[in-house]
Amino acid sequence: MGDSCDVKDVNLAEAGGLRIEYASQHMPVLKELGDRFERDKPLSGVRIGACLHVTTETANLMRVLKAGGAEVAVCASNPLSTQDDVAAWLASGLGVPTFAVRGEDNDTYYEHIESVIGMQPQITMDDGCDLLFTIHDKHPDMLAEMLGGSEETTTGVIRLRAMEKRGALGYPVIAVNDADTKHLFDNRYGTGQSTIDGIVRATNVLLAGRKFVVCGYGWCGRGVAMRAKGMGAVVAICEADPLRALEAAMDGFLVMPVKEAARWGGVFVTVTGDCSVLRREHFEVMGDGAILCNAGHFDVEIDIPALREMAVSERRVRPMADEFAMPDGRRLYLLGEGRLVNLAAAEGHPASVMDMSFANQALCAAHLVEKGRSLENRVHRVPREIDAEVARLKLAAMDIEIDTLTPEQERYLTDYQAGT
Ligand code: ADE
Repeated sequence: MGDSCDVKDVNLAEAGGLRIEYASQHMPVLKELGDRFERDKPLSGVRIGACLHVTTETANLMRVLKAGGAEVAVCASNPLSTQDDVAAWLASGLGVPTFAVRGEDNDTYYEHIESVIGMQPQITMDDGCDLLFTIHDKHPDMLAEMLGGSEETTTGVIRLRAMEKRGALGYPVIAVNDADTKHLFDNRYGTGQSTIDGIVRATNVLLAGRKFVVCGYGWCGRGVAMRAKGMGAVVAICEADPLRALEAAMDGFLVMPVKEAARWGGVFVTVTGDCSVLRREHFEVMGDGAILCNAGHFDVEIDIPALREMAVSERRVRPMADEFAMPDGRRLYLLGEGRLVNLAAAEGHPASVMDMSFANQALCAAHLVEKGRSLENRVHRVPREIDAEVARLKLAAMDIEIDTLTPEQERYLTDYQAGT
């Protein structure tokens, strides 16, 4: 493995170490797995390439993988999500080849991915599928040697399923996102809270009474809408899927097309996974002061080139807020350059929810070491036992006891003859 790194400033390592230690206190499941991995070494000698948001939580996952005996290299999964102090600690405190600088341009982003590929990973751990895709696209010779991969996010899983459908997937991948202990918590409560956090840090606006539009009512959208409502905002949902739109309506939200919401709203959050959700026709009718941000994985949900083309001027008015002045005098504010607002303008999901997501990642890595070679080149579910184990460990860490069915109750559930 190459031992070089590209981080902003290694002198930030001490500050990063303190924050990582602090986050670890909120990651009891990962801590328990770290102790097990230290003892059993399930990843002994395995090379893992991770393309993840470089945060305090990710650093704690890297510690566990190393404790399990893995050789790890890390790069960023988004140009604007890296916490430079964490990258510095990974590089100099944990001794992990780390390639991540907050604000890196697209070329550097892909150079960093290539640096991780240079260590010849046997397992890829992705958030958005860029590492796996680059291996398929540029290094197909590596595919046969791979044990497998795992994918953290909805967008990445959608890309993987498209590859699978076309027969283009060259090694097995586990869709960590689809574990219940992942998406029901991380996507809903994690994205819900951290998106509001990002908006508030970027703008310091009061949400109470504000007209708040959420485009997309998947698990992330549900979380954002729920939390915005909790802050007193009046929330409208835009959805293209009739079932989700119906659910939003019965959850008590206004439901309307984006064209209508554009005139109505004051804050807009895209979280659909699709492109050009907010575009020229919407910018044309938004009110003065409208705030635009994205919580989806890629920065394609808001048509920023169109916004730029329409604007007569553009300036940064706060660290993560850019003002676009329209020819008629209206000002639109874009947060976090249209990238994931929760990671660009805040710190991503809190550690206690990443605890479950990353426990799944750690256990899936061990699963791939054990079973990877026997799995088909498909997108696989997280094994039910792993999902259940993560839930059990989290409940125990939260000091919550639950009931056990009596033998009579167990019997009743399998007795199809017992009716009225
Ligand atoms: N995705 C969302 N929040 C995150 C976090 N805190 N760390 C890593 N990935 C994330």
